[in-house]
Amino acid sequence: MIESVNLTKYYPPPIKSLFDLKSLRDFLGKPREKIPALIDLNFKGREGEIFGLLGPNGAGKTTFCKIANALVIPTRGNLYINGYDSVKEHDKIKGKIFTIFGGDRDLFGLFQWRVSVEKNLKFIAELWGIPKVEAEKRINYALELLNLKDKKNEWYQKLSAGMRQKVYLALSLIIQPEVLILDEPTVYLDVFTKREIWDVILELSKEFGTTIILTTHNLNEAEALCDRVLFFNKRKIAEGKPKELIEKFQALKAERKLLIKVKGDVKTKDFDGIAERINVYIQNGLTYLELYIKRNNLKDIFSVLTNYNVVDIQNETVTLEDVFTHICSFDSCVNSKVEEKS
Ligand SMILES: Nc1ncnc2c1ncn2[C@@H]1O[C@H](COP(=O)(O)OP(=O)(O)O)[C@@H](O)[C@H]1O
Ligand SMILES: [Mg+2]
Repeated sequence: MIESVNLTKYYPPPIKSLFDLKSLRDFLGKPREKIPALIDLNFKGREGEIFGLLGPNGAGKTTFCKIANALVIPTRGNLYINGYDSVKEHDKIKGKIFTIFGGDRDLFGLFQWRVSVEKNLKFIAELWGIPKVEAEKRINYALELLNLKDKKNEWYQKLSAGMRQKVYLALSLIIQPEVLILDEPTVYLDVFTKREIWDVILELSKEFGTTIILTTHNLNEAEALCDRVLFFNKRKIAEGKPKELIEKFQALKAERKLLIKVKGDVKTKDFDGIAERINVYIQNGLTYLELYIKRNNLKDIFSVLTNYNVVDIQNETVTLEDVFTHICSFDSCVNSKVEEKS
């Protein structure tokens, strides 16, 4: 179980140079503007569920994961893991929680570069106190599941980023932590590796009942894996089951999304008052128009479109990505820079 209670983190502002008078004065006590990373974040991740923390770049995802590992101290508020404060009582949860930072970042320096994958895994299993025979069983199972069997004698250094990420994930099958925190686990990975990693995450949840916190800005990933998600950008924006959030959005904001390909320019003004929201972008010489409309608006839309050279119209389903961009674009936190003075 994981509970975030008013979790807040402001980072100190960067100090440019102590040799210029203004920076020195700021450093010596003038109120300084701090960088908000998390503001009063409240949520509960239940036992055995995959809980998604969804936020754009800079939303505070990695800060959250670092607080869970006592690598960063919150400014105020608490993060409880299995009832223990992640920072003040870290020794009580050590060993029960495991975190994988995405993008090939072995933040804890667990892996020896010039040592084989298998030896690395055996060594780390030993560190976690897993008996030898059991460790061997788990290592074989993990390597099999992640299609890494042929890499077991390879030096860790020689693995690609995707393979390293898989080896890291293999550790969670070996250690079998109660709480697993995955910080953008598939960032930069190709679609095949991504799928393998998704399968293992689902396996961990199903087979071992692991409580999983998954941060991502990949909405498809959240939709495919998470039981519940929380949209946030420093502050909480919305929380619920992925499907519920989509339905809420469909009911409240738009019932249909049309993707229209047009030759020539588009005047978004033409759609004022008849489209809920418009995105326009140019690709391969065509203008793509994404229109979010109410069902009963179709007639008005088509009458405007008669003035355009329309190449194609597609009726698309509203995805979680649409919900996410929509609510993020209206959230005041998106552009929040500075909120608190020291
Ligand atoms: N060590 C740090 N010092 C100062 N600011 C930081 C530091 N780490 C992160 N930040 C800032 O905190 C905010 C949240 O960052 P982060 O948690 O890395 O977001 P995310 O992982 O969602 O992209 C960003 O504005 C980022 O620039
Ligand atoms: Mg991050």
